[in-house]
Amino acid sequence: MFENMNEQEARDRILEMVGEYCDKFHKRDTAFMEGQRIPYASRVYDREEMMNLVDSSLEFWLTSGRYTDEFEQSLAKYLGIKYCSLVNSGSSANLIAFMALTSPLLGDRQVKRGDEVITVAAGFPTTVTPMIQYGAVPVFVDVTIGQYNIDVTKLEEAYSGKCKAVMLAHTLGNPFDLKAVKDFCDRHKLWLIEDNCDALGSKYILDGMEYFTGTVGDIGTSSFYPPHHMTMGEGGAVYTNDPLLNKCIRSFRDWGRDCVCPSGHDNLCGHRFDGQYGELPKGYDHKYVYSHFGYNLKATDMQAAIGCAQLKKFPGFVKRRRHNFDLLKDLLIKGGAQDKLILPEAAGNSIPSWFGFLMTCREGVSRNDIVRKLEADGIQTRMLFSGNLIKHPCFDEMRASGSGYRVVGSLDNTDRIMNDSFWIGVYPGMTDEMIGYMSTQICACI
Ligand SMILES: Cc1ncc(COP(=O)(O)O)c(C=O)c1O
Repeated sequence: MFENMNEQEARDRILEMVGEYCDKFHKRDTAFMEGQRIPYASRVYDREEMMNLVDSSLEFWLTSGRYTDEFEQSLAKYLGIKYCSLVNSGSSANLIAFMALTSPLLGDRQVKRGDEVITVAAGFPTTVTPMIQYGAVPVFVDVTIGQYNIDVTKLEEAYSGKCKAVMLAHTLGNPFDLKAVKDFCDRHKLWLIEDNCDALGSKYILDGMEYFTGTVGDIGTSSFYPPHHMTMGEGGAVYTNDPLLNKCIRSFRDWGRDCVCPSGHDNLCGHRFDGQYGELPKGYDHKYVYSHFGYNLKATDMQAAIGCAQLKKFPGFVKRRRHNFDLLKDLLIKGGAQDKLILPEAAGNSIPSWFGFLMTCREGVSRNDIVRKLEADGIQTRMLFSGNLIKHPCFDEMRASGSGYRVVGSLDNTDRIMNDSFWIGVYPGMTDEMIGYMSTQICACI
């Protein structure tokens, strides 16, 4: 088949066939039929993603390489941030973001075991997991219903002299009150990590300037797991404007090493055998000098290759998510759903890139009856992840001993979300017909 072709020509031929294969077997243009399954999220892709994936696999570099560089630079450019590191999941991104704050390079701002980190219990577990694994103490604050983010009126009450950081997710794309949280962090010299895994593309207006969420605090994180705003199968990113934090992020991602040469490249600084570190002999190979107890949480170039194609489509995805959310909300209001359900509200000064449409049942309305009915109608539903993380089996020992975490006041709204809230999707592959059907079925069953 490849006779009389050079390598580039052979590769072009393969990619052309891959594109045709994708067009023929992966395109679903059929119109929506009522009752057909409507997932809460799904991958949206075309031949470009598949061709990039195969291109990268033919190259067979496998670990981070040129697609990784392109992806990191393109995402940083999109977000308007200086440094971006690709990792293998959003949970890894949160782990690295948190562990970066434990670096001794940060002097008296280093987060030590026993230090406190303010967060919420209504969300995804791996926003909190890294704190517990390290031995820091999560301090749980209640959230508000309607916006589903931290109740910022409780921040001062949550503060203690042991507090070193705030780590919060922007719930389902709706930014938390970044102005209040950032002011609080600045006032008390606290780090701010924005878990942006469910909010890529959301914007927040701070002092008259528009910022992407994830870029206002010290470190932001993303997830590229398939249901998220864009995907590469598994994947995540950690971003920051701070060169020292970036050095820590890279080190924790790449085995804890001190050297910053990318995989497969040696001695880019020309000082590989010059330095003296710790109690090592002078001139010890810098490639094997470790400034942290790190991990290896890099992604492969094949994941990055898919991400590069997704990023090109990304602004269109965000636009469609907003359209779907607005249409669904309008239809539900017109159908009278507000009498039975609390509908989601965008945070002040924000332009959300919605991950989902989260609703809370008013008194006398059963969340479980509604979700059972919607699922039977083919509409996939989700809870707000853990609901109240403290109620889960992973917390049994800590709950029993009453140690290792702190709760500020009551978590009444968090418990209400655990009992009465559910969400459905607004992913960019949804059509107006699907949104119309979802709205009709919801109004019919409340
Ligand atoms: C807010 C939040 N943070 C972190 C994660 C973890 O991302 P991943 O599944 O890529 O590990 C998720 C996952 O959905 C999430 O919703």
